[in-house]
Amino acid sequence: MEEHYIWHPFTQMKTAAAPLHVVKAKDCTLFTADGRQYIDAISSWWVNIHGHCNEAIANAIAAQAKALEHVIFAGITHTPAIELSKKLIGMLPGNFSKIFFSDDGSTSVEVALKMAIQYWHNQGITKTTIIAFDNAYHGDTFGAMSVAERNAFNAAFNPFLFEVQRLPLPTKENISLVRNQFASIAAGNNVAAFIFEPLVQGAAGMLMYEAEYLDELIVLANEHNIICIADEVMTGFGRTGSNFAIEYLVSKPDIICLSKGITGGFMPLGVTACSQKIYDAFYADDKMKTFFHGHSYTANPLACAAANASMDILNSQECKEQIASIAASHASFAASVADHPFIKEVRQLGTILAIELKTGEDSSYFNTIQSSAYEYYLSNGIFLRPLGNVVYIMPPYCITSDELTAVYTCIRQSVDKLFNRI
Ligand SMILES: Cc1ncc(COP(=O)(O)O)c(C=O)c1O
Repeated sequence: MEEHYIWHPFTQMKTAAAPLHVVKAKDCTLFTADGRQYIDAISSWWVNIHGHCNEAIANAIAAQAKALEHVIFAGITHTPAIELSKKLIGMLPGNFSKIFFSDDGSTSVEVALKMAIQYWHNQGITKTTIIAFDNAYHGDTFGAMSVAERNAFNAAFNPFLFEVQRLPLPTKENISLVRNQFASIAAGNNVAAFIFEPLVQGAAGMLMYEAEYLDELIVLANEHNIICIADEVMTGFGRTGSNFAIEYLVSKPDIICLSKGITGGFMPLGVTACSQKIYDAFYADDKMKTFFHGHSYTANPLACAAANASMDILNSQECKEQIASIAASHASFAASVADHPFIKEVRQLGTILAIELKTGEDSSYFNTIQSSAYEYYLSNGIFLRPLGNVVYIMPPYCITSDELTAVYTCIRQSVDKLFNRI
């Protein structure tokens, strides 16, 4: 019935299997209309950090809904947004001083790019170059697609995307080359911003790189007066073991994009935080220096209330222990499978564990192992959604050790079974 009306995201509707019809969820378990259960091992596209239907967040939203459900955020402010801004500024490392709200990860990136470009414009300076990494993913809106890797996701829109200068992810081996490339792009004095997913490129297949080398590029960016934008839409809120991936860096960015886990997966919300330096370039008597950007649901009070409750849980000792315990379990599972002949590489940072399978095909989102792996996990009651031949676990922090063991066991068995078929 549903196929008559609904068009699902990132789904080829002609060939995809019928979607699971989920009727309720609790903690890490999804319950379907036909009576089956699945462990949500990827936190529902990386948003659900505290488990489904978390009581405290649900109550916060219910209370807020009875006090103020929504109100225009121009000319009006409200307590949930004030409280959340104060909390986030307190949690963020570095020199962030202002919070700008939007709707999701993509819009938080659009806001960041527009802030960076207008930062220069407001000073009478035109800078037209953005630096980004190979394999980057920053969302599905046009600015976000422009700074992303050119690939099948955005091929249809290529003629409409603005050009950016691209660099490979820095590694121990290539860092001096990447530094030179960065410096030569920067030498033209035309670079408005450098945008990156710090330490983990999620959609690219959980590609990981070290803080030390990113730090070197941020130092270079600072020397050339280039605005640094950290896209922590995926890595934020404990995913990497710290609240934010930029905590692993010595140099801090000027702008940070946040979304996904912020509300614990209850409500859509995007945040772009910036330093005083950025804000000051807009703060003027001249109306033309205004940041002309806003969405109808900017700083929705229900979303802010959810985020306030979600941050309280994230900052609790219990949650910190859960994150540390997942990281430790991942590390020991990773060590136990790393030498498997059908595993190309195991990557881990904090609560993110990625296993790249050796299939005989190129590593890619379109690797044909994906569908059989996905079906295998489903048939074993585990909801995992491999990125091509990269199987990853990114669980809600409340996952129990029994549930984690079930996920690991299923992955271990799948590696044996699927590859016996190749
Ligand atoms: C690093 C990064 N930036 C931006 C986005 C886009 O977020 P949204 O899907 O909420 O628009 C994503 C989504 O996966 C992401 O991983």
